[in-house]
Amino acid sequence: MADTADHKLFVLMISIHGLLRSENLELGRDADTGGQVKYVVELARALGKRSEIERVDLLTRQVIDKKVDPVYGEKEENISEGVNIVRIPAGPRRYLRKEVLWNYLDGFSDQVLQHIRRVEKVPDIIHAHYADAGYVGSQVARLLGVPFIFTGHSLGRVKKARLAEKGLEEPKMEARYNISRRIDAEEFALDTATFVVASTHQEIEEQYKLYEYYDPRRMEVIPPGVDLDRFFPPKRAAVREEVEHKINRFLDDPELPLVMALSRADERKNIETLIHAYGQNPYLKKNANLAIVAGNRVDIAAMDKGARKVLTNILLLIDKYDLYGKVAFPKEHQPEEVPDFYRLAARQHGVFVNPALTEPFGLTLLEAAASGLPVVATNDGGPNDIIGNCNNGLLIDPLNPEDMGKAIQKVVQDKHYWKKLSQNGLVGVEKFYSWKSHVSTYIPKLENVLKRRHYGREIISRYKSRMPTVDRIILTDIDNTLLGDTKALQEFLELLNQAEHHIGFGIATGRHLEDAIQTLNENHVPLPDFFITSVGSEIQYQHGEVEDRSWRNHLNYYWKPEKIYEILDEEPGLTRQPQSEQRRYKISYYYDAKKAPKKRQLMRKLREKKLRVKIIISRYMYLDILPIRASKGLALRYLSMKWGLAPERIFVAGDSGNDEEMLLGDTLGVVVGNHSKELRRLYGKPRIYFAEGKYARGIVEGIEYYNFLEEIRIPEEENDQTFG
Ligand code: GLC
Ligand code: MG
Repeated sequence: MADTADHKLFVLMISIHGLLRSENLELGRDADTGGQVKYVVELARALGKRSEIERVDLLTRQVIDKKVDPVYGEKEENISEGVNIVRIPAGPRRYLRKEVLWNYLDGFSDQVLQHIRRVEKVPDIIHAHYADAGYVGSQVARLLGVPFIFTGHSLGRVKKARLAEKGLEEPKMEARYNISRRIDAEEFALDTATFVVASTHQEIEEQYKLYEYYDPRRMEVIPPGVDLDRFFPPKRAAVREEVEHKINRFLDDPELPLVMALSRADERKNIETLIHAYGQNPYLKKNANLAIVAGNRVDIAAMDKGARKVLTNILLLIDKYDLYGKVAFPKEHQPEEVPDFYRLAARQHGVFVNPALTEPFGLTLLEAAASGLPVVATNDGGPNDIIGNCNNGLLIDPLNPEDMGKAIQKVVQDKHYWKKLSQNGLVGVEKFYSWKSHVSTYIPKLENVLKRRHYGREIISRYKSRMPTVDRIILTDIDNTLLGDTKALQEFLELLNQAEHHIGFGIATGRHLEDAIQTLNENHVPLPDFFITSVGSEIQYQHGEVEDRSWRNHLNYYWKPEKIYEILDEEPGLTRQPQSEQRRYKISYYYDAKKAPKKRQLMRKLREKKLRVKIIISRYMYLDILPIRASKGLALRYLSMKWGLAPERIFVAGDSGNDEEMLLGDTLGVVVGNHSKELRRLYGKPRIYFAEGKYARGIVEGIEYYNFLEEIRIPEEENDQTFG
């Protein structure tokens, strides 16, 4: 825990899509391998350098595919001391784009739990990036009772609005982008998050605000770091000759200060107003050059409409203001040349101009600042924050060319002023926009959270889950097994109380959660580590506060409740149980064995209507219908996989039909003395002990039989071996 000063933190980061490796990131290789990939690797590395951090595991999806580098298939890759990339298999092994990963995320979550069990250490915090990891991270954080941090990077609701503007219809958005699953995942993550890390205030106010679980009190602006190894002032390295040539071949006097814009050829980047500003300002025309670096082009006429329009207008404006010999407009450049453009402009005592109509973040401004180049930029969220912090330039109205021209003039005209801005930018970037400064804001926030230990809008937990650290589990039914004899219950509870920390406790019941909790409370039974409720159709952890979503998602298969009611309501001897017993994945009737059809007959009727379900009769009184994938037994098997516990480490006690499936198989079963007749068919089956003791006394007897609290023994099998 964070309350001891020397406790060092274990941070679990999750970033699922794209191609992630420790170095030579393939940025821009495809739409999923871009800024976010870089962000998470830099963040992990910077965290690893801090003394407060012991370990960072950066989890991503494992990709085994001939089309990509084999490193993306490696299970682990070291980034730096204590910092590792851990690759988790999920779905097909090949490389998949992020939009089609949704169905594999529950599997990813389960693998994350396995990883945690393997490393034998529950993280102190989970930080997820983008909607997909947000979904996984929230689920795992809830299951473990660990605080959760979310960074959206970009948001589904914003994308949806943009697609709608373009005229794309909803069914297409769904087919192409699975947009509503993305938005649901984001809502879930925002609901769970202790805090959200945003890059700018505007991102919070304009983007996160679109969400139902928007809560600005839980949002922190911590800008990402600039790559200071790539972007630095001209003093440190000469400008590549090719880059210099790309600019200078246009210019009559390359020695003049260079005013530079660098952006995509996109209307919203508003390059045209900059040319008006320059062309209409006599001082600039005489004393400065202008460089427009706007992507790459071969043949403008063959480009898509948006870019074609922008590029054509630029050429027309150069002609209109007769800027030949004054404006450089290079046709192409390589991504690795970008830092040289900034350095060239800085060397020429120029200025970087970002005239975009809106600018929520403005990474280019930071790159300019890191290169020692002062900036003039649109008065909007990103530039506001940046210039506010660094004091390295001027804000302008992007629609006012005169204003823009004057601001640029002011910067290039006065050498002292220029020097001050340049210096401020260099200092400010290091102070506010390096990864080092990012983590120096981030870590105190983390520590704060760990001190408070109340998480998110809903308090997701009061304590960390024991599940990853238990090595065996006692699982029992409630009615007629745990309860029925007060003295016997007392004996069992004493045993449980003395059991060591590595022994987990679970409940599996036909009752629904609220009912189960109330019953346990009334009988002074401590709340278990997990609940299997409603006959195995639901699983909850953390005192019931956290539902296992992946279990729920897994059940929705061949499940048509209305049809089932329609058929069974007509049958004699069946009466519906109260509404509170009818659950999303459980239909329950009272069963009158004298009048009602036998189980086999009911099964046939349902099958005739193409309904595939599970029918469970208990104590000849109750009839439950469940999806074929549900039962206490299947829920238990799922749990044992999820938490990495072998079945022989799970002790199971029950008394009636709905316990049958969980008693069968490799778990260590005990049937209490007062069992219902339908369990007689388990006589003689392996690993099922029929106790003499009734109710909880039968449980105690079974625990002793298997020596379950110490070194586990399976007596019949020992005998088999001796006599076989
Ligand atoms: C519990 C439930 C009931 C169910 C029965 C048998 O009594 O409340 O709905 O039918 O267990 O599973
Ligand atoms: Mg029972």
